[in-house]
Amino acid sequence: MNAPSPKVASTDLFDPVQLGPYTLSNRIVMAPLTRSRADDQGVPGELQATYYSQRASAGLIVSEATNISAQGKGYIRTPGIWTKEQVEGWKLTTKAVHDKGGKIFLQLWHVGRVSHPDIQPGGAIPVAPSAVRAENQQAYTYEGFKPLVTPRALETDEIPGIVKDYAHAAECAKEAGFDGVEIHSANGYLLQQFLSDKTNKRTDRYGGSIENRTRIVVEVVDAVTKVWDSKRVGIRLSPLTKFADIGDSNPEPVYLSLIEQINPYGLAYIHVIEGDTQGERQPAGGFDLQKLRHAFKGLYMANNNYTLDLALEARAKNLADLICFGRPFISNPDLVERLRTGAPLTPPDTNTFYAGDEKGYIDYPTMDRLAG
Ligand SMILES: Cc1cc2nc3c(=O)[nH]c(=O)nc-3n(C[C@H](O)[C@H](O)[C@H](O)COP(=O)(O)O)c2cc1C
Repeated sequence: MNAPSPKVASTDLFDPVQLGPYTLSNRIVMAPLTRSRADDQGVPGELQATYYSQRASAGLIVSEATNISAQGKGYIRTPGIWTKEQVEGWKLTTKAVHDKGGKIFLQLWHVGRVSHPDIQPGGAIPVAPSAVRAENQQAYTYEGFKPLVTPRALETDEIPGIVKDYAHAAECAKEAGFDGVEIHSANGYLLQQFLSDKTNKRTDRYGGSIENRTRIVVEVVDAVTKVWDSKRVGIRLSPLTKFADIGDSNPEPVYLSLIEQINPYGLAYIHVIEGDTQGERQPAGGFDLQKLRHAFKGLYMANNNYTLDLALEARAKNLADLICFGRPFISNPDLVERLRTGAPLTPPDTNTFYAGDEKGYIDYPTMDRLAG
């Protein structure tokens, strides 16, 4: 092991920390990163096992977003977690990560309106809280990019079926050997479409008031924590993101209410994308996200454009318990060691984010290989 850089001498960023029943080896988390390399049935294999195990020195890995059902899918070659074959495929990854001493949660995903009939079963129109189209957004289909369509508003009596799909997927994740699950309620996908007044125009018990808009998320938390011990469950939120054309005229009370409602479940963590995903950390019109940290009873995981300096500052000022890095993990499998020793980071090749099989996926070198 190389010597730590003087910069990190007094931080606890690289020290073990307790997350529910798990002692994580450090406070650094690998963010969920869609890499679109599963097969057409959403089955991951050896390739994913190699990729994740290369990154197992993260205190915790959150898997790429994983479809809970065929209806939940919005991007080609994204993995699923509702069939036997998908469960078997994921077992390769969980075993490979565990063999290296790592921990991995699976991110549960339903894209809602961010899909396309070409990707939906039977060419169906994608579903959403309301028939509001995401503007200026493209779906990546087998025939290349296509504009998103206007989604179909879910009937009230369809919603319990979707909540059941989350529970089924959570069960499958358990069978696949994950250490826990993260409910994806961020980045403009289905659950955030319910939370946000830009996309939720419903007049039934799932729309209108804050209590109604947060209802499905609380129901999903309830369903998933019946499958998993709540200390093995986290939730991802992005109150200020504009990703996938999402937005809310006044997000602060919505998210404070949500936190108050989920607190009794005792989740392990909230995972907060601070600002606009991959963009500004403090966009205009935002609110102080530390309010969520103080309102929530579990750990606070912070993400978005973190650097080593920002992470050190967040720990020094106790602004976050865990720091989550996305893009840096794509191109630096040994990110933790590089941050600890102050080594330079390899920049990622954006052309292979969502394509390229092995290239740009499992061929990024560790420091030793760079030096050698
Ligand atoms: C290639 C790529 C794929 C992503 N896939 C997901 C995903 O599957 N689920 C999710 O919640 N966020 C996803 N994100 C967002 C990241 O988790 C993270 O929030 C974002 O990159 C900001 O963190 P960073 O500045 O450390 O990269 C993705 C981002 C990138 C660049």
